[in-house]
Amino acid sequence: MLKGCRNRWPLTFMDGFIAEGGLGPVVNKKIGFVGAGNMGEAFVGAVIRSNLFEPAQICSSDVDQGRRDHIREIYGISATRDNVELFTDCEIIVLAVKPQEIHGVLAEVAGRKDYRIPHRKLVITIAAGIPIRKIEDVLYAPLDDLERANLPIIRVMPNTPALVLSGMSGMSANGNAREEDVRITRSILEAMGRVLEFKEEDLDAVTALSGNGPAYVFYLIESMIEGGIHVGLDPDDAAVLTMTTLKGALKLIEERNESPERLRQKVTSPGGTTEASFRVLEYNRVKAVIIEAIAAGARRSKQLSLELKKK
Ligand SMILES: NC(=O)c1ccc[n+]([C@@H]2O[C@H](COP(=O)([O-])OP(=O)(O)OC[C@H]3O[C@@H](n4cnc5c(N)ncnc54)[C@H](OP(=O)(O)O)[C@@H]3O)[C@@H](O)[C@H]2O)c1
Repeated sequence: MLKGCRNRWPLTFMDGFIAEGGLGPVVNKKIGFVGAGNMGEAFVGAVIRSNLFEPAQICSSDVDQGRRDHIREIYGISATRDNVELFTDCEIIVLAVKPQEIHGVLAEVAGRKDYRIPHRKLVITIAAGIPIRKIEDVLYAPLDDLERANLPIIRVMPNTPALVLSGMSGMSANGNAREEDVRITRSILEAMGRVLEFKEEDLDAVTALSGNGPAYVFYLIESMIEGGIHVGLDPDDAAVLTMTTLKGALKLIEERNESPERLRQKVTSPGGTTEASFRVLEYNRVKAVIIEAIAAGARRSKQLSLELKKK
């Protein structure tokens, strides 16, 4: 079985994307994932399934032997313990370790004696709350201007539904990123859902809305199921009623060209049952509370980034 990242992929064709519609992979570069955990594995599965990369173009590094064996066996990619080897051999590197591990990984890579960037290498970071500046501080420090320009960095804020290919990601690129780097990153993220581009300072708001968003929705689901049980329903029935209603409501918004407010007004007849429920929601300022909760998430994200910048 192939273990390291080296010599797996004959880079015989032109840089960047291969013309679409062919039988081979869409991107003709080697990609490496530092961290083969939940997100690393989700990315690997998605880029293979979408035919963006072939297994032979993909490498993953992880400290955990079990994770390395797992990812190698399931996806047929190569796996290594050595982050430096992965960084050296790949042209696209996705940093998918926990935020607290990022500095150690970068220091390991940039600290080696022969650390140089003579050819273009794209670094994509998905570590929550780690500003691009923090990554530049370590990866750019030993490099001259030409080498820094060869090392674009793109920060991504994905969310957990990416694990089931229904993610929502926000991305922001640093000044060294070219059109092609952004396009490749977009394609990788689109293999796991949707993506929008932002200025980096807006990623705190993205974190609070779509990053934390699944948790708000889970909370709403929990509350609705408990409400159903409270009015006498069987818990399983309450769950089916809630989940199906949620999926149906989402489909209605997507398929009708009407705002959620308008659709809500349509089902709220004067003196009816929905109106009775909404009197309670409005009396308790539920909308204002959700807005406050999102603002608190954005403030916390900004605070965490600032704390990291100071360190
Ligand atoms: N999960 C999400 O929904 C989500 C959403 C948005 C952003 N993110 C970001 O995605 C990143 C990864 O999250 P995750 O949930 O995938 O984490 P995870 O499941 O813990 O995966 C990280 C993997 O990296 C390994 N690792 C630790 N230190 C390492 C090192 N120095 N070199 C190589 N591998 C190392 C870990 O091994 P050990 O377990 O043995 O330490 C683990 O297998 C995080 O930065 C997080 O902020 C995640």
